[in-house]
Amino acid sequence: MPNDKPPILVFGATGRQGGAVARALRQAQWSVRALVRDTAAPRSIALNDAGVELAQGSLEDIEAIRAAMKGVHGVFSVLPGNLAQEEEVRAGISIADIAVERGVRHFVYSSGASAGDRLTGVARFDAKPRIEAHVRSLPITATIIRPMIFMEMLARPGFGLEEGRYSFFLRPDQAMQLIAVSDIGKFVAAVFADRSRFGGETLKIAGDTVTGSDLEAVLTQAAGRPIAYARFSEETLMANPDLGTWPPALKQGRLPTMSTWMSCARSIRKSSRSGPGFPGTDSGLSRRRSDGERPEAVNRQAPCQRRPDHGSCHRRCRLLRR
Ligand SMILES: NC(=O)c1ccc[n+]([C@@H]2O[C@H](COP(=O)([O-])OP(=O)(O)OC[C@H]3O[C@@H](n4cnc5c(N)ncnc54)[C@H](OP(=O)(O)O)[C@@H]3O)[C@@H](O)[C@H]2O)c1
Repeated sequence: MPNDKPPILVFGATGRQGGAVARALRQAQWSVRALVRDTAAPRSIALNDAGVELAQGSLEDIEAIRAAMKGVHGVFSVLPGNLAQEEEVRAGISIADIAVERGVRHFVYSSGASAGDRLTGVARFDAKPRIEAHVRSLPITATIIRPMIFMEMLARPGFGLEEGRYSFFLRPDQAMQLIAVSDIGKFVAAVFADRSRFGGETLKIAGDTVTGSDLEAVLTQAAGRPIAYARFSEETLMANPDLGTWPPALKQGRLPTMSTWMSCARSIRKSSRSGPGFPGTDSGLSRRRSDGERPEAVNRQAPCQRRPDHGSCHRRCRLLRR
């Protein structure tokens, strides 16, 4: 397929973020190269069918990464969520170092909204700020994005949907920002499209803000039957060591990480009845809002034109734009 833009190397392209980024970049007419572990895996084949060039390699194979970065304009670096802190830091740093060595023009590192600017001493929070600090120290034009919790995570089993209810740590009137994975792709494509604007920036990105009551309305609409929302009881919060850290973390602007999320879902699931999976909400809550708003339109406007410091496309930006 003919392309009019130079290649961008995408890590994790068989996964959520990397896949969304690869798709959005292809849509924006970039050449995309993906570093994949197994070129014969169905997801790799699907990428290739979508016009993505495959480079075989893994995070452990520095020479393969070096070869894959040959001649690329940009790199999108995202690391799997199952690495130990030191592994994650080592991989994040070496990808960035190789990008410098290869003369990459625009480096985008996907961190996480739970990453603060200071180290906490808590392993699961500290890998990303350490990588961020290293990236900032390098002689390369870099953009760091910090995506909020993925909307897709809300549909995981373990939060009560199987039983026609939804439990979460938000109070009904308390708001939290989320992002659909596909919007991360659109956002990153916008970042690569404007290197001079986004180079040097660290941007938290979100697609919508939802309260506990919003969750009830959206999930009810998506399920086509009532889904009652209730905050986890204090006992549940206190009894689950991970879950109990969420409300104070949210207050401090530090969100739970994916591994925390998964472990909570697992432990809640263990104590609840099993049932059929929840149909439907695989592409973001916003698409199914019941109040007539169209958050997708908000998402399409990302990144914010009026306030680049927002670095995101949530409702606040749209209001400012009016
Ligand atoms: N979940 C959230 O709400 C959230 C929010 C913000 C940030 N994050 C962060 O997002 C990151 C995970 O991104 P994701 O959800 O897009 O990941 P994902 O869907 O789990 O995909 C992981 C990708 O990494 C690849 N991979 C795994 N091990 C590899 C290795 N050794 N060498 C090369 N490639 C390897 C996988 O390839 P294979 O197909 O070969 O397995 C896959 O493409 C984590 O750092 C997490 O902290 C998550």
